[in-house]
Amino acid sequence: MSHVKLTTEKSAHLYESAKRVMPGGVTANIKYFPPYPLFMSNGAGAYLTDVDGNEYIDYLLSYGSLMLGHGHPEIADTMQSHINNHGTWLYGTPHELEITFAEKIKEHFPSIELLRYTNSGTEATLLALRFAATYTGKHKIAKFEGHYHGGYNEVLLSVDPETSDAGQKEKPNAVPSSKGISPSQTEQTIILPFNDEAAFDILKEHANEIGAVLIEPIQGGFIPAEHGFMTKLRKITEELNIVLIFDEVKTGYRITLGGAQSYYNVEPDLTALGKVIGGGFPMGVVGGKKEILMESSPIDNITSEPLNSKDVLFHSGTYNGHPMILAVGLKTIEILEEELETVLNRTEKLKTQLEALFYTKGIPMQTVGLGSVFNMVLSENEISNYRDYQESDFDTRRKIDKHLLDEGIYSKPMNRYSMSISHRDKEIEKTIAAFKNVLNSL
Ligand SMILES: Cc1ncc(COP(=O)(O)O)c(C=O)c1O
Repeated sequence: MSHVKLTTEKSAHLYESAKRVMPGGVTANIKYFPPYPLFMSNGAGAYLTDVDGNEYIDYLLSYGSLMLGHGHPEIADTMQSHINNHGTWLYGTPHELEITFAEKIKEHFPSIELLRYTNSGTEATLLALRFAATYTGKHKIAKFEGHYHGGYNEVLLSVDPETSDAGQKEKPNAVPSSKGISPSQTEQTIILPFNDEAAFDILKEHANEIGAVLIEPIQGGFIPAEHGFMTKLRKITEELNIVLIFDEVKTGYRITLGGAQSYYNVEPDLTALGKVIGGGFPMGVVGGKKEILMESSPIDNITSEPLNSKDVLFHSGTYNGHPMILAVGLKTIEILEEELETVLNRTEKLKTQLEALFYTKGIPMQTVGLGSVFNMVLSENEISNYRDYQESDFDTRRKIDKHLLDEGIYSKPMNRYSMSISHRDKEIEKTIAAFKNVLNSL
């Protein structure tokens, strides 16, 4: 591969049409990047092909969802045979796969005694917060600076604040990450510093009001919590009667089969899952302690008598536990039971080779991440939270990312890298060759 700018005229043209039907031409703002995003038309294994016919090794993998890569034949077969065997793809009633899938999740996540299905990671974290408020009777929540949990007002605070607005490192301000957030929300959501024991003082100060601590155990999917911090967070939330929610939407089935909680050996009260478990389809799970999950039960735990709906946490959804998605998700997990280890080894190989390459070119770069996800951080300093990351060299990273697209490496600029079982040695070799070209041209 040589460094020749790809022709992406058709993407440019489609983007003009898209702007006529959707605000800013996109239906998720995260899909936009300047001057215009690339429009894809095909995918196979580790590869995506855009509408101009350019082929890319895909490291975005739909924000980490496609752990098997694109178009895995066993997933296609699962969908087809589900239709052949069952005649329909949606019952709107209970069905057996809801049980089978839950049993599989429980096997890997022992902290999950009961679970409920949702249609996305956003819905999963939202439901988890509603469980926590119902269970504790405390309605404020605490989240960490730089952590993303989905697109709703309670958690769209201090996801990516300007350092100038963010306040003290030990006591961050709650900075809206979106328009339309009511000023009172900045009092309802308390912002904690990640990997910093000052967080525990804030929790103690507001213990009577905070019902939930919501955390990405690995921030942004790549900055790991320190073991000691995690253990203390578990202990303190327990002491203060605060529900600890692990948002494992990114980390579920990407770090170990049992997620970040198995890596840290810490049991949260609730876990939110999404992305990988849907095998590329919209899906989420909230699971955890039975006594918390039972808040949503339509029947009494002891008498099994139906309860009055006003005495129950409302949870519903037309598509919850979608049979076809559960079938595909289950197959995905079964394949990962066999192959996750290989993906983890290949990820280490890619990380090591990338770091060696940058080193020979004299550019400070560290790969930060665990399991099958990492980010390239252009800095020599230790990266343990949002503010450390903000101090890395974003300008050079942007240049590299832009050139990488021309070299056939796809990740949304500035995004982390996710691997799949379809990223094999050949793709790693091609990736390193592409990076060499890019670094030589800087
Ligand atoms: C940690 C985390 N939580 C929640 C979400 C929201 O999930 P979804 O996009 O499926 O609504 C995401 C999505 O990127 C995420 O990374």
